[in-house]
Amino acid sequence: MRIYLIGYMGSGKSSMGKKLAARLGYSFLDLDSLIEEEQKQSVSDIFAEKGENAFRSFERLALHQTFEMENIVVSTGGGTPVFFDNMSLMNEKGLCIYLKSDSDVLVNRLLPNQHLRPLIAKLSKEELSVFINEQIKKRSPFYEKAKMHIEARDLTPAILHVQVMRWFENQQKV
Ligand code: S3P
Repeated sequence: MRIYLIGYMGSGKSSMGKKLAARLGYSFLDLDSLIEEEQKQSVSDIFAEKGENAFRSFERLALHQTFEMENIVVSTGGGTPVFFDNMSLMNEKGLCIYLKSDSDVLVNRLLPNQHLRPLIAKLSKEELSVFINEQIKKRSPFYEKAKMHIEARDLTPAILHVQVMRWFENQQKV
């Protein structure tokens, strides 16, 4: 089984993903880290030197590698579901979980580490809020194709684990 955590930057995909993987006894993979390892460059440097289109191709290739992996929780990048046929492939190859967050929560979570994320690195707090709202509007139709939607606010690894186990049980009944 493969589990893909999707959602906007700052929604907690990596931290929740690691904890969920530990509870399930699965491996954990962060898609951005795999890209950085393979390209031997940070995401910011890839954006700056090779451009976003190149990053999206690397991201697609990294995602395709996960289809060969088993019993894994993958935390995707905020843009992964939006490009190519990534979203439908993730739905086909595994369980996609959309971690849904309000933009005000995201702004506060993203501000301290803004410099690590090239799409928002140079925005003021006000601009960040406008940008996030606009991007979420554009990206939601993709995120909402996930089979499971979960409010990220107040989410604990234990709650997420229970939801996933229930989903597995229901699948077995079908
Ligand atoms: C991006 C999100 C980032 C990273 C890149 C682009 C996006 O991942 O892939 O900076 O387009 O939303 P996180 O969601 O893990 O920050």
